[in-house]
Amino acid sequence: MNVFSDPMQRLNPGVQSFLKQPMRLLIDGQFVDACDGREFETYDPATNSLIARVAEAGVADIEAAVAAANRALVGPWAKMPPAAREAVIHRLADLLEKYADDIAQLESLDSGKPAAQIRAVDLELAIGALRYNAGWPSKLHGQTIPVNAPDMHVYTRREPIGVVAAIVPWNFPLCQACFKLAPALAAGCTVVLKPAEQTPLSALLLGKLAMEAGLPPGVLNVVPGFGKVAGQALVEHPGVSKIAFTGSEAVGKHIVRTAASDLKHVSMELGGKNPNVIFADADLDVAAATAAMAIFFYSGQVCAAGSRLMVERKVYEQVLDIVVAETRKLKLGHGLAADTALGPLISADQFARVSGFVERAKAEGVECVIGGQKPGGDLANGHFLEPTILVNASDSREVVVEEIFGPVLVMQPFDTIEELTARANNTGYGLSAGVWTKDVSKAHKVAAALQAGTVWINTYGQFDSAAPWGGYKQSGFGRDNGEEGIEKFLQTKTVWTHCS
Ligand code: NAI
Ligand code: MG
Repeated sequence: MNVFSDPMQRLNPGVQSFLKQPMRLLIDGQFVDACDGREFETYDPATNSLIARVAEAGVADIEAAVAAANRALVGPWAKMPPAAREAVIHRLADLLEKYADDIAQLESLDSGKPAAQIRAVDLELAIGALRYNAGWPSKLHGQTIPVNAPDMHVYTRREPIGVVAAIVPWNFPLCQACFKLAPALAAGCTVVLKPAEQTPLSALLLGKLAMEAGLPPGVLNVVPGFGKVAGQALVEHPGVSKIAFTGSEAVGKHIVRTAASDLKHVSMELGGKNPNVIFADADLDVAAATAAMAIFFYSGQVCAAGSRLMVERKVYEQVLDIVVAETRKLKLGHGLAADTALGPLISADQFARVSGFVERAKAEGVECVIGGQKPGGDLANGHFLEPTILVNASDSREVVVEEIFGPVLVMQPFDTIEELTARANNTGYGLSAGVWTKDVSKAHKVAAALQAGTVWINTYGQFDSAAPWGGYKQSGFGRDNGEEGIEKFLQTKTVWTHCS
């Protein structure tokens, strides 16, 4: 049967029965309707058909969620010994493992991404984040400090920063939630999680599993809703101490300005325009094939997407040919079909935004080598865009410096290292970059010169819960993952004792 005619039939029984339940807010350990009874709809972006109605958090619901999180902050959670906190986080990871196939299907339906890729990438990263951070509670200790005043005993305590608002986007819904939730829980914080309005479902399932894992009520609250209402109410709420945000640069800057009013702690992951650089001495087959996936994976809706491919001039045409050939192999389809390589864009808005970049570029004389069209047939109702490669774009073009967040690659030749690094750095973003060369000195020289929070050498798009992830420049500040990932959920108390 054609998956487009009834994708719901492809779902495992567990996912089908989950979707038959009401999609309600998780507040204080209970699944509840919104105070005003409002709901919003979430759609399958591959067919544009309705998946579910979801309770929509309003200001009063955010009030209730933040109050619950504040109560939980000083409740049994605060007194739980490190080993018990570690165990509950591991139990949540166990449940994600147990239901991984179901979660991947649910996320695929809601986001359009291929389920098999979600299972292999997002689920592994989410589980990895929980397991890595589960090890921290027993290792968060202060220090004793020698001071100059006589008869003083001075020590520090590492304390949770308080209630965390985790505001996450639609491109890695579950994974981004866990990147924030896992270290926040390990630090002893409590969390109000606001998933993106386009992809609320996996966060609700995560909330259900967190309750099953034994997280005390109020430690995790899940409040689907819109950015301008639920998100804004969280950002303004005096009972929130810390905002951990991933999303657009514009909203990130707005949140920083709003959070300044009561000096909330903020961390920001705001996307990128990431140069992927291939030198002539690289293994060109591997570099070029990886370059195609670096941009087209999840249809380019990835902050780390290698969206600007810079190739040493003498091999530029050769690399272009390989990348085009690789691109032709990518099959667009429904995320629940096993042979799908690329799904749709998340929404009509995102389709309009991405195709707008392509159309403006073409109108300005940038050449489109492949793609750029909306496919028809089975794909006609979804927000699909063919994978697109643009060439002959000068450095000042918006497609060269702006984050497009879609399946659009810009390829440019370069001649020297100095020219390359100056041009690659000439963007407001600084999230990640790739460097392909067999020359170790050149690789490290370029890695040092590129203004980016992550540089991949002879690989691309690697992540690990132990490896810090975050941006330079306007890609944001603060790091997810690794030791820095938990640091931002802690604060230090210094205790002085006079020992007379
Ligand atoms: P967005 O920044 O509006 O959404 C991200 C999250 O922020 C969502 O949960 C949203 O509800 C929330 N939000 C929106 N306004 C808010 C407010 N005033 N206060 C608090 N929370 C608020 O991103 P959007 O509109 O979905 O995507 C637009 C563009 O942003 C994309 O085309 C892409 O370029 C970029 N983007 C980058 C991401 C990344 O991973 N760095 C992820 C998503 C989008
Ligand atoms: Mg959806």
